[in-house]
Amino acid sequence: MKRYKDVAGDGGSNVVGQVAAQQERLRQRLAGVRSILAVVSGKGGVGKSTLTAGLAGCFAAAGWRVGVLDADLNGPTMAKMLGVRGRRLVMAGDAVEPPVSARGIKVMSMDLLLASDSTPLTWQAPTQEEAHTWRGSMEAQALREFLADTNWGGLDVLVIDLPPGTDRLATVASLVPRLAGTIVVTISSDVSQLVVRKSITVARQAQAPVLGLVENMAGLFPGPDAAVLAEEAGIPFLGSVPFDRALAAATDRGDPFIVSHAGSEAARQLTAIATKIRAAITHPASV
Ligand SMILES: Nc1ncnc2c1ncn2[C@@H]1O[C@H](COP(=O)(O)OP(=O)(O)O)[C@@H](O)[C@H]1O
Ligand SMILES: [Mg+2]
Repeated sequence: MKRYKDVAGDGGSNVVGQVAAQQERLRQRLAGVRSILAVVSGKGGVGKSTLTAGLAGCFAAAGWRVGVLDADLNGPTMAKMLGVRGRRLVMAGDAVEPPVSARGIKVMSMDLLLASDSTPLTWQAPTQEEAHTWRGSMEAQALREFLADTNWGGLDVLVIDLPPGTDRLATVASLVPRLAGTIVVTISSDVSQLVVRKSITVARQAQAPVLGLVENMAGLFPGPDAAVLAEEAGIPFLGSVPFDRALAAATDRGDPFIVSHAGSEAARQLTAIATKIRAAITHPASV
């Protein structure tokens, strides 16, 4: 596919046809995915990725078939947090087989592309022509390729870990056929909540239900109550995950925290939050 400026006057490249073909491939790849969730926060460093990994672990422990897409192209962390960093990507037909974590979670991350080969980055698209899109491509195009070229198979849930920034959700929402819901993450600081308030507004506009607000690192900062923020914003409050060094350490090692620290308060909270989310996306009317 050529870039916009290349196709002024066209030159017979049939860009529209190529985008339509990719969109159709994306639709087919996601046909077996029952629900897609996005974990968002306008703020960086609040634990979006940690919670994505933790919640994915809880969904898998409940018997769900789980996939995780790391939509943070510049700061990818999901491969490490789910213990698949350094795995080689395997092509099967016209798709990439996502590596599977010890708990059976399928993971796709930019990190796997970078780590799997020391040669310069080129996306192995089905046709050489499409491989060009990778190099000057924009984020949305990269994500569309990620989603369309990954063999997700049948999944009960695909969790998308978003980079910080309030605009990112709109991009993701425009790509996938349907978002089952968004989960907004905050920490109990004034600064975080100032930004997260905006994220909630954006999440509302994404035409996907806001499943609720999660407070992370509870107890670390003497800040405002996240439950109040949720109430003011008119969205459910899903719970508080306490600050727990063991959670940070397990996530750094790529260990499934809810298994290795099953008795901890953080694991209990994650499990309770995951249970609420499962109920909300299985029976949308229950929230
Ligand atoms: N509840 C928690 N307790 C302790 N450390 C945490 C917790 N949540 C996240 N962290 C740590 O905080 C850092 C930032 O988390 P991360 O998930 O990468 O944030 P984000 O994806 O929002 O940028 C990481 O080092 C992570 O291990
Ligand atoms: Mg992150």
